[in-house]
Amino acid sequence: MVAQGAVVVAGIVTASAVAALIGPPLFHDHLLRAGMSASASELAHVEQAYNEASFVSLAVALVIAVLCALGVTWYVAGRLTRPLAVLTAAAHEMGEGNYAARATVSDAGPELASLAEAFNAMAGRLGDAEQTRRRLVGDVAHEMRTPVATLAAYLDGLDDRVVAWDEPTSSLFRSNVERLARLCDDMSAVSRAEEGRLELRRSNVEVRELLETAKREVRSGFSTKGVRLELGQCADARVVADPERVGQVLANLLANALRHTPAGGEVILSATQSGGEVRLVVQDSGEGLEPDQLTHVFERFYRGDAARTRDARGSGVGLTIAKAIAQAHGGRLTVTSPGRGHGATFTLSLPVGS
Ligand SMILES: Nc1ncnc2c1ncn2[C@@H]1O[C@H](COP(=O)(O)OP(=O)(O)OP(=O)(O)O)[C@@H](O)[C@H]1O
Ligand SMILES: [Mg+2]
Repeated sequence: MVAQGAVVVAGIVTASAVAALIGPPLFHDHLLRAGMSASASELAHVEQAYNEASFVSLAVALVIAVLCALGVTWYVAGRLTRPLAVLTAAAHEMGEGNYAARATVSDAGPELASLAEAFNAMAGRLGDAEQTRRRLVGDVAHEMRTPVATLAAYLDGLDDRVVAWDEPTSSLFRSNVERLARLCDDMSAVSRAEEGRLELRRSNVEVRELLETAKREVRSGFSTKGVRLELGQCADARVVADPERVGQVLANLLANALRHTPAGGEVILSATQSGGEVRLVVQDSGEGLEPDQLTHVFERFYRGDAARTRDARGSGVGLTIAKAIAQAHGGRLTVTSPGRGHGATFTLSLPVGS
């Protein structure tokens, strides 16, 4: 309003100054050139008429300009304040922990509409992160309960002298403490992955190199257990990916395959190209998965075998992280299995590089 007023006043002052200083001498000069005598009384009348006409026109212009300024201010302020009030209310709601709050801004112009869109996208991300945090806290509490309860029971037993501090007790303590320590690491890794905060250092890498590196890294574990690890068909292709992260996914898939394949079994690592994607495949001849397990293996802390809960080896987050890494690359991680006892095939699809 003040800005509009300043513009109106500046316009009127300029117009009045021009009309007062330049208009009358110019008019007077033209009247003389038109043949009117400088002493004629008509000249004074005509000049007075000119001055009055100028004054009236300026006064009318001032009133109309002020009215227009008021109208425009009212309209523009209305268009700005309504959506801003909606955005402020939504921000307050979010501040109080309601991450479902969204700002609906209509007919406010493209700038405010895109501000509202950005706000809503931010609210969505915060809501997802909050939901992940809540679920994670629940899952972690659940995961911690078993080792903590075991340790507490043994401590009671030691206090009451019904349990002796011997080798089995010491190794039970160690494995449960290690399990809790690994849980802490996994927790932070999985929350970073699920919130999409993974940093990717992409480069154009040869698929063969990825497979060979992955194989090299796990070779000794396979030969120790007596499981054959073969490099099958390998497409002569490249992918745009972070080689370290892809290596992490392959290492997890191979560790799983090794864990779930009995001695004498076989794991085949291969790569094929089809359309715009390259598929890296880890196929094992091991335990396999029931059809209903296929939908759960990527869930956080899911472990197929309930007895494995007390097994110090896995937290059940490897595939969750692997899937998040695949998605961060614009790819997918999928699993198929013909059924229990018939092996499993995990496929990491990545966009093809040049
Ligand atoms: N190749 C496989 N064959 C059969 N079951 C598998 C295979 N890979 C994974 N699974 C099942 O999926 C579950 C989840 O795997 P995931 O890698 O997420 O966790 P994990 O291996 O148990 O623990 P970690 O967090 O150490 O990886 C496993 O516990 C297992 O039941
Ligand atoms: Mg695993």
